[in-house]
Amino acid sequence: MPAMGSPPVKGFGQGDPALAAWTEAVYRPEDDVLRQIRERSVAAGLPPIQVGKMDALHLEVIARVSGARKAVEIGTLGGYSGVCLLRGMGSGGFLHTFELDPGRADLARRSFEHAGLADQVRVHVGPAAERLRGIEPDGPFDLVFVDADKAGYPGYLAWAEQHLRVGGVLLADNTFGFGHVHEDEPEGEDPGAMAALRRFSDRLARGGRFRATMLPTAEGMSLAVKIR
Ligand SMILES: C[S@@+](CC[C@H](N)C(=O)[O-])C[C@H]1O[C@@H](n2cnc3c(N)ncnc32)[C@H](O)[C@@H]1O
Repeated sequence: MPAMGSPPVKGFGQGDPALAAWTEAVYRPEDDVLRQIRERSVAAGLPPIQVGKMDALHLEVIARVSGARKAVEIGTLGGYSGVCLLRGMGSGGFLHTFELDPGRADLARRSFEHAGLADQVRVHVGPAAERLRGIEPDGPFDLVFVDADKAGYPGYLAWAEQHLRVGGVLLADNTFGFGHVHEDEPEGEDPGAMAALRRFSDRLARGGRFRATMLPTAEGMSLAVKIR
């Protein structure tokens, strides 16, 4: 049976490891701060399921080009992707990030402190579907990044439809469903989660509220702008 979930090393560059190594050497997606977050997360026993290095750079650059100042992240882990979103937003940016697990949330808070970004982030603990309600008065938001439980993606999209501004950006990681999103009987993956990812992409691409595309990263990163 194939391994479930994210691979520890995320492919990039047409599946050719030499091309991926060249790209990382030139574009340098991971500085010491990010490397230390990744290493501390592993040392704390967290699974290595943060976004890939180049995907983290995509997040920073997309946050930057979109001019986002108020962002929401669903799925914090150790704070790796959150640091990238905050870097992309600059000193005027603020991130609400949601994490189910209190230990992971604590680790992420330390990551934001080490990155010098603690004043620009609030880590909310608990199931995002419930906790998101608490930030609605701060909306509308400029950017929402979805990277948590796959079964929750359709609900997170429904929330983003209501609480992103028109022109705001939605990003979602893992929308290739670890290579199985398109299969009726996904080997080694939860069929319910894969069906949820299909519903998510169907609605994002064809629901009329977003113009959306799929970045063909190793994990599949949906990228959309809210149009109405
Ligand atoms: C893939 S990891 C996030 C990685 C992170 N975005 C990064 O790249 O650094 C997914 C996280 O979502 C959290 N999670 C799972 N279900 C959740 C839920 N219902 N609400 C909030 N967080 C959840 C998990 O505990 C896990 O830490």
